[in-house]
Amino acid sequence: MSSAISPEMLRRAGGREIRIVFSEATIADKVKELGAAITAAYPDGDLLVLGLLKGSFIFLSDLVRQIDRPLHVDFLVASSYGSGTVSSGNVRLLYDPETPLEGKHILLVEDIIDSGRTMQRLLAILPERNPASLTVCALLDKQLLPEPLPELRWVGFPAPPAFLVGYGLDHAEDFRHLPFIGDLI
Ligand code: IMP
Ligand code: MG
Repeated sequence: MSSAISPEMLRRAGGREIRIVFSEATIADKVKELGAAITAAYPDGDLLVLGLLKGSFIFLSDLVRQIDRPLHVDFLVASSYGSGTVSSGNVRLLYDPETPLEGKHILLVEDIIDSGRTMQRLLAILPERNPASLTVCALLDKQLLPEPLPELRWVGFPAPPAFLVGYGLDHAEDFRHLPFIGDLI
């Protein structure tokens, strides 16, 4: 019943009620923790942090500021999988990073892993470019895959089975700017 939701957990944005699932402070603590773990994991070599647009843009910008070692940043835009015509391993990149990936440690940054199909497709094509390593950091994981992706080394939070918005995540392009993550109720 909605009466179980305390008023301080609710926000109104864009004419909708949003129940806060991860507050701004909770996210900031987690991003700090992830940044420290990533810093410790890459003692040497070139690190390229590769964000999947658009959803990762806020998470990535906060995350790189918590990584205390040299790194470069680039982005990827993958074709959406809605049509069902793109087979696995044949993902189309609408924007491909300018920098060569060869010999670099690649840290793919994703906002949320849902079915895992987007990530599986990218992980099928990126090794062709001979990176030194290929690892994924996702802020959220709905944990729907029978086996977690072996490249998925860092996950901020397990995600509830709801449609989440805010902190980069959108619903029809709305709500990306919210500083917290919530579900539309
Ligand atoms: P997947 O390929 O099914 O894993 O979907 C991943 C992509 O779908 C993410 O990068 C998001 O852009 C989008 N997505 C999945 N779940 C949500 C959600 O709860 N809120 C907003 N976007 C989502
Ligand atoms: Mg996305």
